Amino acid sequence: MDNPISQYQRRIKRVIITREEIAAAVAEAGKKIDEMYTDGKPVLLVSILKGAFVFLADLCRAVSHPCEIGFMCAKSYHAGTTSSGVVNITMDLDQDVSNYHVIIVEDIIDTGRTLKDVVELLKARNPLSLKVVTLLDKPSRRKVEFNADMTLFTIDDFFVIGYGLDCAEQYRGLPYIAEYDPEG
Ligand code: IMP
Ligand code: MG
Repeated sequence: MDNPISQYQRRIKRVIITREEIAAAVAEAGKKIDEMYTDGKPVLLVSILKGAFVFLADLCRAVSHPCEIGFMCAKSYHAGTTSSGVVNITMDLDQDVSNYHVIIVEDIIDTGRTLKDVVELLKARNPLSLKVVTLLDKPSRRKVEFNADMTLFTIDDFFVIGYGLDCAEQYRGLPYIAEYDPEG
């Protein structure tokens, strides 16, 4: 019988972004965030769980200005070709965002549906400003128009794992981003 650990390892097809490349891009993103907000008002980094938890942990340590962190868990449901769907917030922020510059921190933008819905929802709560930073973007997969304010890496249409991203809840702890091989 096949060993589950060797199957786990075989399915990591190839590294597409190394830990060093991620670290350099996150350091640069932190500097840009410092430069973006100079009015002294509080900044809130909002991570969309679960995939963005590793990115948020590194990004908040790359920002030198004072910032707070928050978490939301969002799932979007869409029927057929409907472009704007219903976002189901399974865990919400525990603070009022009206006195914050909010930055949504996302792992990957695929169809764009989740973020489009989350942005609409948070805008309705009147933050001082609202921006989106994403680690990865797969623009070729977009189903609704959506652009992040900052994208660290643009990738082709592969299914990727690692650095917070999962396949069936596994591989989130890999320190790099890899392509997943379902046949591996
Ligand atoms: P969408 O933009 O609404 O389609 O959803 C994006 C979400 O789908 C992300 O936050 C991820 O949780 C998940 N996702 C999309 N592509 C990938 C991938 O290649 N690997 C792992 N998760 C993915
Ligand atoms: Mg996600």
